[in-house]
Amino acid sequence: MAAAFLYCVCQVGAEAALKREVSARRPELRPAFARPGLVTFKAEGAAVDADQDPGSPLVRAWGASLGPAADHEAVFRALRGACPKGQAIRLQVFERDRWRPGEEPAGFAYGAAAAELRARLVAAWPEDLALAEGEAAAAGEWIADVILGEEGEPWLVGHHRHVGRRSAHPGGRIPVAEAPEAPSRAYYKLEEAIAWSAAPLRAGDVAVELGSAPGGASYALLRRGLAVHGIDPGAMDPRVLAFAGPEGPRFTHHACTMGQVQRSDLPRDLHWLISDVNLAPQIALQTLRRLGARPRRALLGVLCTLKLDDWKALRHLPGWLRQIEAMGMIEVAVTQLPRNRMELFAYGLTAAGVARRGRPAVAAAAP
Ligand SMILES: C[S@@+](CC[C@H](N)C(=O)[O-])C[C@H]1O[C@@H](n2cnc3c(N)ncnc32)[C@H](O)[C@@H]1O
Repeated sequence: MAAAFLYCVCQVGAEAALKREVSARRPELRPAFARPGLVTFKAEGAAVDADQDPGSPLVRAWGASLGPAADHEAVFRALRGACPKGQAIRLQVFERDRWRPGEEPAGFAYGAAAAELRARLVAAWPEDLALAEGEAAAAGEWIADVILGEEGEPWLVGHHRHVGRRSAHPGGRIPVAEAPEAPSRAYYKLEEAIAWSAAPLRAGDVAVELGSAPGGASYALLRRGLAVHGIDPGAMDPRVLAFAGPEGPRFTHHACTMGQVQRSDLPRDLHWLISDVNLAPQIALQTLRRLGARPRRALLGVLCTLKLDDWKALRHLPGWLRQIEAMGMIEVAVTQLPRNRMELFAYGLTAAGVARRGRPAVAAAAP
């Protein structure tokens, strides 16, 4: 799909790093208009292929940018000029990030303003443009994107085809049902991670989590029916410690640093290795590798938060992904999840993990 401009959305604070990353990998793109959480690029010379991944894990969603629109008619005009005639368009309206993740005003959640505008656009939708029902994208569909910012700011209109590893959700914002009882926001991070990676976790699996306290991620795993070995010298939330299935408590706390845990302290059949430890990724990955090293025949995958000191640390990413691959993973990919802060999420699946998921491995998305 040819485009003269691209838009990319990302977390607030990542814009400059995203520009550097995309400009380095796609020299035909030159940074243009930007707002917090939103960067556009102009194609130098000929139009660029908007289907092609811009090549940075900081890009949560992207598409062809059709320019600003101040009213409904301007949105429809832009779409008429760009979308193929006679093909249904799926409308995705979303808000660009306006605060760093976790720093939103108390009680604020993205989505209300977008839902309201979407309803107004649908009500005014013209007959000459076919509209697909619903928001979540299916493979190959054409999506109209309308991006909201501050009140009074023109919307940005874009469009894209739902191909490749794009999120099906507007702006790549993965919906996770509220769980106010979860011990920490890591609950939401892990739920987003599972949704994005499509990691096939099942009740009865055994997971080890490095950096498990206070227990949001462990809580998400326990709720899904997994048994969890959490390694952290910090205190675990009592709800996690007390979480019991029909066969009794399912959480085991190794209240020590990960360096003090021996392979023999963990069950032989481990299915998932998870890390959210707030240490340099190479250290976390070394420990995952030590604890997960063969023979771990049951191992299905690794889900790992990679903590960054600053955006410059992105230069180490190819090496970190190779470390994950070296754990026997045949599919490895990385992104910045909506709720990730100065961190990325990477996962790997073994051949058994891919087989259980039931969809062929996608090529490693290592930059
Ligand atoms: C971001 S917090 C983890 C949040 C947690 N995953 C949750 O779901 O609530 C990072 C954790 O890493 C732990 N940590 C730091 N160094 C560690 C080490 N060497 N071994 C184990 N845990 C460590 C800290 O105690 C802290 O609880």
